[in-house]
Amino acid sequence: MSSSPECRVEDNLIIVPKGLQNVVVDETKISGVDPKGEHTIYRGYTIDDIGRNASFYEAAHLFLKGFLPCDEELKELRDSIDKWRGKTPTKVLEALKLVPRSHPMYYGIYGVSLLGQYYAGEWSTDRDTAYDHGLRIIAQLPVIFAAGWNLAVNGTYEQPDSSRDHASDSLRMITLREPSDIEARAFESTLVLYMDHGFNASTFTVRVIASTLSDIYSAVAGGIAALKGPLHGGANEKAIEMMLEIRRLAEEEGSSLEEATEKYILGKLSRKEKIMGFGHRVYKLHDPRTDVAEAFIRQLPEGETWLRLIKKAEEVMWREKKIPANIDLYTGVLYYQLGIPIPMYTPIFAIGRVVGWVAHYIEQVENNKLVRPTEKYSGPVGLKYEPLEVRCRR
Ligand code: CMC
Repeated sequence: MSSSPECRVEDNLIIVPKGLQNVVVDETKISGVDPKGEHTIYRGYTIDDIGRNASFYEAAHLFLKGFLPCDEELKELRDSIDKWRGKTPTKVLEALKLVPRSHPMYYGIYGVSLLGQYYAGEWSTDRDTAYDHGLRIIAQLPVIFAAGWNLAVNGTYEQPDSSRDHASDSLRMITLREPSDIEARAFESTLVLYMDHGFNASTFTVRVIASTLSDIYSAVAGGIAALKGPLHGGANEKAIEMMLEIRRLAEEEGSSLEEATEKYILGKLSRKEKIMGFGHRVYKLHDPRTDVAEAFIRQLPEGETWLRLIKKAEEVMWREKKIPANIDLYTGVLYYQLGIPIPMYTPIFAIGRVVGWVAHYIEQVENNKLVRPTEKYSGPVGLKYEPLEVRCRR
């Protein structure tokens, strides 16, 4: 365990460290870090094992049903997700035209909220209904993101195609082009790597909302809002912007990639700025998800060049701060290699993580207790209200 502040008791209240660091708030059987803090475990398997080997549907089945499926179980889940993807309500997609162009994560927040209203009256918090509606959200979220983005940028969008598999159809709808096999597999693998990760900020948000017995659409919309922040899912976009800036500087100054990386990172650290794509609340030595992503980066355009840059950045950050890279540094590069528009990187994180959110929603409502911590009030007391004319005319 890192040397974070300890819990203490004051006036019969347990005071926990800021950010709930190292505080256990509940049990889960879905995912969590092994006692050594080296691997996240996906229902018994290591995250890198599943990320390297499982398809999107297999991993989704593992999270939602608790075990890796056999043929019939896999077919059933696959058919449901593909069917619901093809049935994304046109009304919801058309409504996205009204949304002013800003960060595409908003399409997810609006779109999932609209789905909740579209299917209003059909949902409840019992397991089967939550599962059924969770599948709809998993299936339709990529369609919403891709349509929202492409409507804003290109004035048109690609319809989902239920005959294709979920990951490659999502990539096709986002990029408006047919992915190659290796592109589709690399993309699918990142969705699996992003699928769940213990009580991270967005998952905890989903569980808090679930604990009020609000519906699964509202809970997922909250998860997307939490994921949007640059300290969480938003880091993959910032990481590639940094990597592109380093490449631009190397070219401009005629220096090597290694020299430019060293200079850039030292400059930022001297200004006490954070390096995006580095650091993690849990992984203090190594993020195992990066190994899986690295193998795919190597097989995509300019793989060796990108890896030179990544390895140099890792070397400098370890030497200067003892902080390892996280998955977002790697997916930032990988999505760039796939030709995905940068603002869509965090939405893609959500397209993977939504599976975990659904599993956590179900687990929370099945064994529910309202999440309602207590605050330590440190503001003034004893003030008395005065009417405006007295308060402001003294
Ligand atoms: N660059 C520079 N310094 C850093 C970084 C970084 N990326 N990360 C942590 N530090 C420093 C930080 O400044 C602090 O130093 P000091 O003690 O001197 O003030 C120390 O390390 C502890 O940092 P912290 O932010 O208090 O630690 P945390 O456990 O809360 O950090 C983190 C986790 C992810 C918020 C943080 O590492 C960070 O901001 N990283 C950059 C954003 C990022 O890449 N996020 C993606 C996380 S992985 C994907 C996901 O699951 O969301």
